[in-house]
Amino acid sequence: MQYEPRLRNHGLPHDPFKALIAPRPIGWISTLSKAGQPNLAPYSFFNAFSDRPPIVGFSSAGMKDSAINAQDTGEFVCNIVMKSDTAAMSQSSAPYPHGVSEFEKAGLEMEASRLVKAPRVKGIAAAFECKVTSLVPMHGVAGNDATYVLVLGEVVNIYIDDDFIKDRRIDSAKMNHLARLGYMEYAAVENIFWLDRPQGG
Ligand SMILES: Cc1cc2nc3c(=O)[nH]c(=O)nc-3n(C[C@H](O)[C@H](O)[C@H](O)COP(=O)(O)O)c2cc1C
Repeated sequence: MQYEPRLRNHGLPHDPFKALIAPRPIGWISTLSKAGQPNLAPYSFFNAFSDRPPIVGFSSAGMKDSAINAQDTGEFVCNIVMKSDTAAMSQSSAPYPHGVSEFEKAGLEMEASRLVKAPRVKGIAAAFECKVTSLVPMHGVAGNDATYVLVLGEVVNIYIDDDFIKDRRIDSAKMNHLARLGYMEYAAVENIFWLDRPQGG
């Protein structure tokens, strides 16, 4: 099959687009509102876009609380989600009103970050402390506004729980990253293999 997304002519009950961009890492974004209220929500339109300097971003369907707070305070923290965080991560995605702390609703505690005011999730395996570098409004080829806003930030401090460092490398098997697939499907990183780069010439 093939289809043109703008015509929505896939003929399926659900648009398969997101199910094909899989697995998608989940950025569990913690922020503070202008008034200092904590906020936490998962974003699977999330990734790294540079490592010199390290820049990560998440994309918000309209200006949700995380994007508003990131814009207002110039900061966000991206917590790395493990399989064991699944229930709390999912709970934190519920549409609570602005100002309600998803930390409380998901039974989570906060831990102070080092270089930004937004806290990380206490007990998390790793977290990126980010300073917003740009909010990018996107548009389609016809000039139509995308409904999403891309929030990019430079990672200014990285927290890693030492338990997840083995032989001086990240222990990916233990970190067991959770990822989003299509629909309501998730996957965890459980099958890891090593592949050296081929030699050129
Ligand atoms: C695994 C997962 C991934 C999600 N990814 C996104 C995303 O990339 N963009 C988005 O706008 N919403 C996404 N959502 C929905 C938001 O988490 C949800 O709307 C949340 O209430 C937003 O919270 P906030 O307003 O506090 O930022 C996702 C939800 C889940 C469970």
